[in-house]
Amino acid sequence: MRLGSIVLFVAFCSFTAYYIYEPIPEDIEERWKLMLANSFFRAVSHLADLCELLGLKDYMGVMYVITLAEKVVPVSDEHVKVTEETFDGVDVVLYQPIVQEAGPNLRRAVIYLHGGGWCLGSPRMSPYDLLARKIVTELDAVVLSVDYRLAPPHHFPIPYEDVYRVVKHFFRKEVLALYSVDPGRVAVSGDSAGGNLAAAVSQQLRKEPGQQIKLKAQALIYPVLQALDLYTPSYQQNQNMPILPRTLMVRFWSEYFTTDKALFRAMMANTHNSPESSILLKFVNWSAFLPETYHKKYNYSAPAISRGAEGEAAGMDESSRSFADPRASPLLVPDADLRFLPKAYILTCEYDVLRDDGIMYATRLRAAGVEVTHEHYTSGFHGAVMFTVWPTDFLIARRMISNYIKWLMENL
Ligand SMILES: *[C@@H]1O[C@H](CO)[C@@H](O)[C@H](O)[C@H]1NC(C)=O
Ligand SMILES: *[C@@H]1O[C@H](CO)[C@@H](O)[C@H](O)[C@H]1NC(C)=O
Repeated sequence: MRLGSIVLFVAFCSFTAYYIYEPIPEDIEERWKLMLANSFFRAVSHLADLCELLGLKDYMGVMYVITLAEKVVPVSDEHVKVTEETFDGVDVVLYQPIVQEAGPNLRRAVIYLHGGGWCLGSPRMSPYDLLARKIVTELDAVVLSVDYRLAPPHHFPIPYEDVYRVVKHFFRKEVLALYSVDPGRVAVSGDSAGGNLAAAVSQQLRKEPGQQIKLKAQALIYPVLQALDLYTPSYQQNQNMPILPRTLMVRFWSEYFTTDKALFRAMMANTHNSPESSILLKFVNWSAFLPETYHKKYNYSAPAISRGAEGEAAGMDESSRSFADPRASPLLVPDADLRFLPKAYILTCEYDVLRDDGIMYATRLRAAGVEVTHEHYTSGFHGAVMFTVWPTDFLIARRMISNYIKWLMENL
């Protein structure tokens, strides 16, 4: 009996230690909370792997419980009117300020795109709901939170196209008028995969001939910006970081395009580039676009290129090749396409595989003459902005959100 309890106790301890132990850097604040959050994420991820292996449910289908765990029903309160609408066939959650006396002034607006690797997330998660309310009350602005469709059921370009359609619909004269929005003061913003969609939409609006819509600003929170080199210094340094380890980011990337595992395997090995995509590698050359301090101890070597027969052997289908499409990888455009983009806010975190994506974009946009505010959090980790709800509420999330809103206040 006693021996049984001891065995159980030891098993319990090793199990907990296994989930909790992760090499979390010393300078991350509130480390135990991050360990807690991460053990939940890892447990779900392992369960998802198991379910997929047993053929019960696909990996992302199980991972979606992370989204469900934080789901709320967005309702109006005394300051904010919340409505759920459909903009050109796409679901959106609209947040508007409730004011006592309606003034003649038009309002600012933020089109917000949630994160979750194009596979997870929803405007109806409590951190996004809270963020939207904060923007509304502090900026007296309208927030349009887009419920774009998700991969893997809806691969690229559907999530991107949903967002693009919503932006165009929102800029229709009668729609802007309905919400009293000033067309000259609309920003697009998002975190992680949402930052990717925000950057892509900003570019494509400039590119489309005859297109009249002009965004005032783009605010990108630890955005994902390129799928060509998944072995930058930040990918290497942070490959086992909590919340977004490299495996999960690569999984998101590959699931964005295809359910075929060949792309995942090739991306894990960073050998997914074809001779066609390799021409674009110059746009993500970190040796050229990262300031020296971010090179860390790493030496540049260009990703391997799989030639014809090999690429075919890897079994990559047509859709897998979309990773080189700038609507998926906004870093892959020449300087000429970056010029005239709306001014940008870019937030990056030291402990994030995506750090170098954001820094490279800041460098490239500045070089093209775009006004950029780059805020780098030296003790930041990926996903921090989402951690505003007890028991995993972080002080760093509050600092990030308040700096982000301050930037919007001054630049939108
Ligand atoms: C990357 O940039 C470095 C330094 O600017 C340069 O020497 C190298 O040739 C570039 N490599 C590629 C593949 O663009
Ligand atoms: C990078 O290159 C330098 C100089 O060639 C070398 O001393 C160093 O060991 C290399 N670093 C790595 C991580 O390979």
